[in-house]
Amino acid sequence: MNVTTSFTKNKIVHLLPEGKISCSAPSNIALVKYWGKYPVQQPANPSISFTLDQSKTITTLYFKEKEIPNDNFEFELLFEGIAKPEFLPKLESFFSKIEPFFEFLKQYHFKIETRNTFPHSSGIASSASSMSALAYCLTTLEAQICEIGDQDYILKKTSFIARLGSGSACRSINGPMMVWGTHEGIKESTNLYAVPFPFTIHDHFKNYQDTILLVDKGKKEVSSTVGHQLMHEHPYAESRFKQAYQNITRITEILTSGNKDAFIHLVESEALTLHAMMMTSMPYFILMKANTLLIIQKIWEYRKNTGSSVCFTLDAGANVHVLYPENEQKVIKKFIESELVAYCENGNYICDKIGFGIELL
Ligand code: DP6
Repeated sequence: MNVTTSFTKNKIVHLLPEGKISCSAPSNIALVKYWGKYPVQQPANPSISFTLDQSKTITTLYFKEKEIPNDNFEFELLFEGIAKPEFLPKLESFFSKIEPFFEFLKQYHFKIETRNTFPHSSGIASSASSMSALAYCLTTLEAQICEIGDQDYILKKTSFIARLGSGSACRSINGPMMVWGTHEGIKESTNLYAVPFPFTIHDHFKNYQDTILLVDKGKKEVSSTVGHQLMHEHPYAESRFKQAYQNITRITEILTSGNKDAFIHLVESEALTLHAMMMTSMPYFILMKANTLLIIQKIWEYRKNTGSSVCFTLDAGANVHVLYPENEQKVIKKFIESELVAYCENGNYICDKIGFGIELL
């Protein structure tokens, strides 16, 4: 498919006067991280993620044909039933970015109702799930009014549109593992949208569990958007981008062969490298907290003493994602409850696992 041409505006066949579309979209956690980008929302290196199952955004898009046509985007946004004017500038900028790809955006008045299944102030970034949910509502509306039946096209366009809202959002479309960014070892891969990891995943990595330890539920001091920008003048940027590219080759081999130790080392190294990039940016910053480090130490100790396959990863924040295979679920839950929960803010954590992406409701 020539994506640059086929994601342009589709012709409206019959404009629906009004209606609503609801869908859910999960969050995702990267194993090889995206950190650094170029206009427009193109990643500096390829990344790969586990799609999550429980941590979701649920969005309903109400649309109604404008009574008097005008050249503006018209929308309202309700988050958990409450109007959120502070989100409107980000939404306006998203609509401007996606305007070249939809015929109907200025023909409707939209009301967007959205909520997360995870607590709002959990420190979990909701941009991946919220942007992919909204993108799916829009591509579903387009499919209805432009009579598009090709599901593969709809999913790819959803990922493409979600990417313009937030880079990592493009990986939430399906699962269980998604690759975003061009890589020679993954034929279909592209910077424009995410594709499912195309090889058979070894049984060890199927049904992986992710317990998210909520170390700090406050708002992050530095946003991902600022962090990405700081990679432009970063002294280690080029070697980091090269390393991430090589790590995609390595993780492909690991996931297909079932090499547990190599998985642990690659995933933990990626997490620490992400934070090392933050600590060596100018200005430098630290998003981990003391409890993040204490948890990491406990995981290392536990692994040494038990031979467990448990490991951790981090996103751009202080929370720790504890990753482990399904067959260790019982013992790791005990370990988390007895040794790690004490480091979580108010003892809070979220039990999640690998999931399969967006759904219409
Ligand atoms: C550390 O996708 O949140 O989670 O494209 O500016 O919206 P924007 O950034 P975002 O960055 C995510 C960075 C990360 C790593 C990853 O998910 O790959």
